Amino acid sequence: MRNTSILGAAACAAIAAAALAGSAVRAAAVAAPPNPNVTVSVTLPAERQLFKDGAGADLARAKCQICHSSDYVFTQPPMTRAQWLAEVTKMKNVYGAPLEESQLEPIAAYLVTQNGKE
Ligand code: HEC
Repeated sequence: MRNTSILGAAACAAIAAAALAGSAVRAAAVAAPPNPNVTVSVTLPAERQLFKDGAGADLARAKCQICHSSDYVFTQPPMTRAQWLAEVTKMKNVYGAPLEESQLEPIAAYLVTQNGKE
């Protein structure tokens, strides 16, 4: 029994070493400096639908387009105010959107005017 566990530990160490070596290789590849002689241009897809003017529009533009386009709001099925509030709260709590508690309700109220239902 004791031998088995020693072997097991050795095997674990070997696997851990291999994993570390693998991640070191990947880290080196990622950390390689960009080639200064190459210019790359990327064309982003056009946004299909923008936030229209209205109360709360500036807040939504400032906060909701940090990570993704406004299209995310319009590709959802129409949602109630409570559902939008849950969605905005999820952006804050799960994905780390930099939102104050006091901004959640005004943004939800605005989103209902953009893609809402009763
Ligand atoms: C910190 C980054 C971040 C910010 C800021 C952010 N989101 Fe998101 N959002 C995400 C991520 C990540 C996803 C999931 C993307 C995926 O699954 O492809 C997402 C997805 C969504 C979706 C798709 C449905 C879902 O739940 O996955 C909607 C709608 C959405 N966000 C609305 C908003 C609104 C409205 C705001 C502004 C209050 C906002 N987001 C701000 C990161 C963010």
